[in-house]
Amino acid sequence: MIKISPSILSADFANLQRDIEAIASADYVHVDVMDGLFVPNISVGIPVLQSVRKFTDMTLDVHLMIDRPLRYVEQFAAAGADIINCHIEADTEENTLAALKRIRELGKVPAVTVKPKTPAEAVEPFYELCGLVLVMTVEPGFGGQSFIAGMTEKIRLIRTECEKRGLDTDIEVDGGITDETIVPCAKAGANVFVAGSYVFRAKDRSEAIARLREAAEKA
Ligand code: DX5
Ligand code: ZN
Repeated sequence: MIKISPSILSADFANLQRDIEAIASADYVHVDVMDGLFVPNISVGIPVLQSVRKFTDMTLDVHLMIDRPLRYVEQFAAAGADIINCHIEADTEENTLAALKRIRELGKVPAVTVKPKTPAEAVEPFYELCGLVLVMTVEPGFGGQSFIAGMTEKIRLIRTECEKRGLDTDIEVDGGITDETIVPCAKAGANVFVAGSYVFRAKDRSEAIARLREAAEKA
């Protein structure tokens, strides 16, 4: 099923409740957590997630761009995250597996994320444990970058691998998504779409969400 997940990295943090209410027609709220170490930028963390959880029932899709996420998955789950994305480049395979297991035990959706230069094969150890694979279509760290077209082949490989294993895993894309770049991603097998600047720079955010949904459904 197609899901639209606007990234609040492009929202106005002084008016976060207002900005999240303006995207109520979306499916998820994408929360980008950056530690200034795994990525060269710092964004928001646990207290902001707790505040957001208080005023919305929307699914909170938390993208951890942090070093060794295993250290924090319990705190993010307790703060209200529904989907917890861990970068596989951020720790050893053993620790990433442990993080996914812990997330599942906590009743949340475990997800792995891959940077643009990480190949599809790197996801292999994690398929059976995760409910979602997030394919970055820009280098993580900043909103407003241009979509890397070469990532569609990776999406296709991951979708094929899920089908081969009989898994109905969600495949999410993040970075430079517009009503145009969403089309090749949906065609390649992605079904969850993050969009930051495309949604929050639009005058009418519901309209922008509807345009994304329509483009993905038609693809
Ligand atoms: C980038 C973040 C993205 C970002 C997307 O590191 O993971 O979620 O907010 O922003 P746009 O859609 O503007 O590329
Ligand atoms: Zn993100």
